[in-house]
Amino acid sequence: MIVRRWAAWLLFATVVCAWAEMLAGDADRGRVRFRSLGCIACHSVDGVGGGYAPDLAKRIGRESTPASMAAGLWNRSPFMWRMIRARRLVLPDLEAQDFADLYAYFYSARFFDRAPDASRGRQVFFEKQCGGCHVPGSSAAQPPAPEAFPPLPDAIVLLERMWSACGDMSEHLARKRVRWPELTSQQAADLAAWLSELSARKLLAGELPAASSQPGEKLFQQKGCHGCHSGANAFSGRFSGRTLLDFAVAMWNHAPAMRKRPALDYGEMRQLAAWLWMLQIPETKGDIARGAASFTQKGCTACHQRALTGAPRLTARRWDAFTLMAHLWRQATDMHKKLGESHQSWPVLNASQVADLLAFLNRPPTPRSY
Ligand code: HEC
Ligand code: HEC
Ligand code: HEC
Ligand code: HEC
Repeated sequence: MIVRRWAAWLLFATVVCAWAEMLAGDADRGRVRFRSLGCIACHSVDGVGGGYAPDLAKRIGRESTPASMAAGLWNRSPFMWRMIRARRLVLPDLEAQDFADLYAYFYSARFFDRAPDASRGRQVFFEKQCGGCHVPGSSAAQPPAPEAFPPLPDAIVLLERMWSACGDMSEHLARKRVRWPELTSQQAADLAAWLSELSARKLLAGELPAASSQPGEKLFQQKGCHGCHSGANAFSGRFSGRTLLDFAVAMWNHAPAMRKRPALDYGEMRQLAAWLWMLQIPETKGDIARGAASFTQKGCTACHQRALTGAPRLTARRWDAFTLMAHLWRQATDMHKKLGESHQSWPVLNASQVADLLAFLNRPPTPRSY
């Protein structure tokens, strides 16, 4: 009985851990971080940026997983850090979330939609009959004129507002016998460009509330999306090659099919899209036994499972490819030094070895590990 309870608890624990595993990246945030973190001083992305280091959009493409990015960073880090020191650059600490965002950015940088175009956006607004209800210059409170829309910093926020107004909009559409205005991602981007030009007014500080930072996976539960999208209708394994905006657009286009739609607060559509985006990324499955073997063969055991070497214990915390990169980022220099002192060379890892090591570090606790 006790054994059964234990087994059930372990099963529960692994399920919970698997849930907690997915850190969703946001490609747009990654683009901003790539510049603000100073990577652009050396690296380029799809040809834009410094020419001293590899173009990361070419290195981290559609075939790359978080584990293969971690392997690349791991293997190149001695060289990269020497170069950073030689140039006397001071780079900030990076969090796991930064790496998730950077990964999403590198991964999708070469596949972004065409640049938005405001004049095409104006055309879409009238072709899709938005202009029949949202009459420019009108002073009606409902439906409001497009100039009276709340601030719309990007296409995903536009779709978020539209999604939340779906109920009212579909009533009006039914009354006017207008079909649901489905959009492509390009059309949504163009529309947002035109609408933001139209309001032509600079946003005041504090005019936008703080964007939600609630993880998309949690929102998916809290908002009740999960109630319809589970079991046979679950999303895992269903998508590939989509951008964040593609997900927001898909939600809009399918909105009439989702009868009990929850309203979304500012930033929530983006968080949901980031999580759905992450479902497209195939995981490199790790193997605990292989990871245990690598941990010894690659020399990790020699330092990390021996007291007095100064190397921290790596067990009893949660690891994924992004946390590994964040820790490596902060501690790589010390680890290089220690290896140098003991005349060892930097251990080289490939993507599946990284996945195996992560599986090994995350292995379920056994009574002996306490
Ligand atoms: C001083 C220049 C410099 C800066 C700044 C820099 N890097 Fe690098 N990075 C390099 C060099 C050089 C390499 C390639 C080393 C090699 O090929 O052995 C590299 C390699 C990498 C790789 C591995 C690519 C592969 O081939 O798989 C990643 C990932 C990476 N850098 C991420 C970053 C990130 C993220 C930042 C900013 C937070 C950053 N780098 C800042 C010089 C730099
Ligand atoms: C049949 C009439 C109708 C059509 C067509 C229509 N809308 Fe709406 N729209 C409404 C109504 C009604 C509301 C709800 C206004 C409210 O709640 O104050 C609304 C709300 C919105 C909002 C949210 C405004 C806010 O204050 O949050 C946006 C943005 C919007 N619509 C954009 C569009 C776009 C873009 C199109 C075309 C793709 C479109 N609408 C087509 C009737 C319409
Ligand atoms: C009342 C049931 C219901 C709820 C609640 C619901 N959906 Fe849906 N959703 C559907 C149906 C039905 C479809 C269209 C059929 C399909 O694609 O599975 C759909 C389609 C979608 C699609 C498009 C899938 C594709 O293949 O492009 C996305 C994305 C989506 N929903 C996300 C969400 C999110 C996020 C939430 C929560 C905010 C949500 N849904 C809430 C029923 C629902
Ligand atoms: C020569 C000794 C040595 C070897 C071999 C070694 N490490 Fe380390 N490692 C260290 C030291 C020392 C630190 C801590 C640096 C610090 O705290 O500044 C560290 C830190 C780390 C960290 C960051 C831990 C944290 O809490 O931030 C990770 C992850 C890591 N090592 C993984 C590995 C893996 C995987 C291997 C084998 C492929 C390995 N190490 C091999 C000495 C070593």
